[in-house]
Amino acid sequence: MNKAKFITFEGVDGAGKSTHLEWFANALRQRGIDLLVTREPGGTPLGERLREILLNHPMHAETETLLMFAARREHVEQVIRPALQRGTWVISDRFSDASFAYQGGGRGVALDKLEQLEQWVHGDLQPDLTLLFDIPIEVARQRLANNISLDRFEQEQGAFFEKVRQAYLARSQKTPARFAVIHAEKTRDEVQKILEKIVSSI
Ligand code: TYD
Repeated sequence: MNKAKFITFEGVDGAGKSTHLEWFANALRQRGIDLLVTREPGGTPLGERLREILLNHPMHAETETLLMFAARREHVEQVIRPALQRGTWVISDRFSDASFAYQGGGRGVALDKLEQLEQWVHGDLQPDLTLLFDIPIEVARQRLANNISLDRFEQEQGAFFEKVRQAYLARSQKTPARFAVIHAEKTRDEVQKILEKIVSSI
């Protein structure tokens, strides 16, 4: 039996990641794969409470970072690792790359602090594959403009998201074998064709 895979979806707000995640998960399930879909921040009862705070309550950038990783510790221990161990694939809507992009790139938290937290929280566990939905920030902002209520991150300015985007790309260049960078400004059908190829390959 093939080892259960851990796959993460990443990208700036408005890249269309959540829509594509749903399609991708269905495509895997149709091929008979036992699959769990989860998200960050969140994924556990405690993580979802932390999410509520993180998305709404103003705080220092390092507090934000620590809470993201605290939620992640719980998520890895309670959900991700047990699922993989019993042979269930896991797709997470965001994982540590989001902390490097948003807290590191966006908020300017030092890279070595993030690396220490990553090592501490899941030093021995990395995604097998990360789909990074990359999109020009103007396009992502236009897509978000239709949302009625925006959370604390989505309310940030374009310059913040430009830094987040660049940090995601830098992160993907550091371990390119783990990443599939997808040009998310393409139409939904075009992106799905790319995803179909990825599904077949894994
Ligand atoms: P998001 O996937 O955008 O949720 P939704 O689609 O429901 O809006 O995630 C919520 C926000 O959390 C997003 O703006 C990015 C932010 N985030 C971080 O800043 N750091 C992290 O480590 C994670 C996991 C998320």
